[in-house]
Amino acid sequence: MRKDLISMEDLEKNEIQEYLTMAEKVEAMPLEERVKLLPGRIMAAMFFEPSTRTRLSFESAMHRLGGSVIGFAAKDATSVAKGESFTDTIHTVESYSDILVIRHPGEGTARLAAQESYLPVINAGDGANQHPTQTLLDLYTIRKDLGKIEGLKVAFVGDLKYSRTVHSLIRALMKFNVTDFTLVAPETLRLPEYFMHSDEPGRFRFHETERIEVAIQECDVLYMTRIQRERFPDLVEYEKVKDSYVLTAEMLSEAKDHLRVLHPLPRVNEIAYDVDNTKFAGYFPQARNGVIMRQAILLKHLGVTL
Ligand code: CP
Repeated sequence: MRKDLISMEDLEKNEIQEYLTMAEKVEAMPLEERVKLLPGRIMAAMFFEPSTRTRLSFESAMHRLGGSVIGFAAKDATSVAKGESFTDTIHTVESYSDILVIRHPGEGTARLAAQESYLPVINAGDGANQHPTQTLLDLYTIRKDLGKIEGLKVAFVGDLKYSRTVHSLIRALMKFNVTDFTLVAPETLRLPEYFMHSDEPGRFRFHETERIEVAIQECDVLYMTRIQRERFPDLVEYEKVKDSYVLTAEMLSEAKDHLRVLHPLPRVNEIAYDVDNTKFAGYFPQARNGVIMRQAILLKHLGVTL
């Protein structure tokens, strides 16, 4: 069993399946049984970057397993604001808790924390790099909603350059024999070439387009993303692309009957509110699945088997 959860790149398919199976078992358990699983254990939520879903679903997950939570939601509320280093902060918090959940704007910071700490470290998002707990809940949602992952046609829309949720999910889907991807992005936000590489040339098809209509008609999963203002070194470039794609209910009239529209959230305006009332909208149930999957992650990394 790995001590840490840092990147989807680290995980074999069977390891990913173990998280999915654990989440299924957790979901099947009555709440009054779940709350007996982690009494006396403490999770440290160390969020150096804003979050609603990841932080609060981890906190909810831990409380509902009978554990408790310490932590911070902004670095300004910690001694980092006085000049304390990241590693000193890790070594301090590790003596107050049993597991560290870390979000940080710096790519590679979760791995650094994992190397420094004897405790399990869970990456809750490191810059534009990886967001593995989001990916696990995305996979769980896809399998729950569509009955399988293998062989689906998946489209990603929006910021494919900086989106850590996209980077994590594409690598995971490739391990699940998803071979057909449609990538919809403005020229300046295309998926970095690196993510399209595979040891098996020709096995995966990446169809790049700037037309969202193509993705709506052909795909089983339409994964929308926010254009992330905070990732742009030059805000003039952000202004040029910020409203590139706005999905509306009317646009979905050409979709396959079973299409699921997913989004890691938060949205800004890339999904119109009228989509929420369609049968295609899967993003709020997706966010709800975050608690289940994060319970599975906490249990696995704290050594509890079901
Ligand atoms: N999906 C996600 O990471 O959302 P938050 O930024 O609100 O945690």
